[in-house]
Amino acid sequence: MTDGLITDPKVSPDELQSESRLRPKMLDEFVGQSKTKENLKVFIEAAKQREEPLDHVLLYGPPGLGKTTLAHIIAHELGVNIRSSSGPVFQTAAELIGILTQIERRDVVFIDEIHRLNRIVEEHLYPAMEEFRCELIVDKGPNARHYSLTIEPFTLVGATTRAGMITPPMRSRFGVVARLDFYSADDLKKIILRSAGLLGIEIDDKGAEEIAGRSRGTPRIANRLLRRVRDFAQIKGKGIIDKEMADYALGMLEVDDRGLNEMDRRILLAIIEKFSGGPVGISSLSVAVSEEAETIEDVYEPYLIQEGFLQRTSRGRVVTENAYRHLGLEWKGDTGQGKLL
Ligand SMILES: Nc1ncnc2c1ncn2[C@@H]1O[C@H](COP(=O)(O)OP(=O)(O)O)[C@@H](O)[C@H]1O
Ligand SMILES: [Mg+2]
Repeated sequence: MTDGLITDPKVSPDELQSESRLRPKMLDEFVGQSKTKENLKVFIEAAKQREEPLDHVLLYGPPGLGKTTLAHIIAHELGVNIRSSSGPVFQTAAELIGILTQIERRDVVFIDEIHRLNRIVEEHLYPAMEEFRCELIVDKGPNARHYSLTIEPFTLVGATTRAGMITPPMRSRFGVVARLDFYSADDLKKIILRSAGLLGIEIDDKGAEEIAGRSRGTPRIANRLLRRVRDFAQIKGKGIIDKEMADYALGMLEVDDRGLNEMDRRILLAIIEKFSGGPVGISSLSVAVSEEAETIEDVYEPYLIQEGFLQRTSRGRVVTENAYRHLGLEWKGDTGQGKLL
């Protein structure tokens, strides 16, 4: 992560350790997402009572909102082991079968980025999910022999930032599908206060509110900003994070008052300056800001849309009046025209 991208919602390698330290272990510690949480609580309790595996769970939503955390919580609440992997890691079906034949009854198998499984591996997952069976084909052509292995009943938890890229046969095999939403400032404040407690950081209510409002609706960013603001409080202040300190530090870190990062601003400005405010198609936008279309759609757009800075229309992306005002640009009415002051 570079300094300019302190509000990148994706995890950076140096953060993995501190993340696992801050990760809630139980459902009750998991802040917000109340509907998903309530539903999961019922499904987990019911499965435990029946001594059956929980139905397969698909979690989707932008990065940093708690998908990996929830997968671990589910296993913990069920009182079972979790085996974690990621879609692109599987090169062959044998690797998947290797995992599935080793699990214990009712275990959780977590596959992150499940939309990136290759097709052959995915097809081996179907009978495993549906009938707890793995199909093996040994040898080729006329000598090919099919074997069917029974595996322990298990729960697959899949996570993805791209629900739209999950194939229909895959999606239909998940009994529980939960979308994670951006967090309210109130929920982010709770997360920040909780993390501060765990890390022994002194922070008051107003300080937590200031960081919460600038965290892009994302717990991962809230925790990261908290750690960076702590550094400023330690070196430039008295070690305590209050509103003034948070405001100063976030200013130094160039996090704006709505939490937009450099790429968010670059996207909005590109649409305004190069495409007269839009509409513009995703591929032209991708070229204009030198970022992959997929990343724009998964990581940046959802927040810009939710905050009312961007709209998706049938003809492409359009920047809103709000965005012009936020960027300090003149809004000339709904003519698709904006110009720099
Ligand atoms: N609901 C939550 N309550 C408290 N902390 C959370 C919550 N969701 C996420 N976090 C924190 O944010 C970090 C990133 O969450 P993670 O589950 O890795 O996101 P994702 O897998 O969706 O990218 C975690 O380390 C955790 O500390
Ligand atoms: Mg994750």
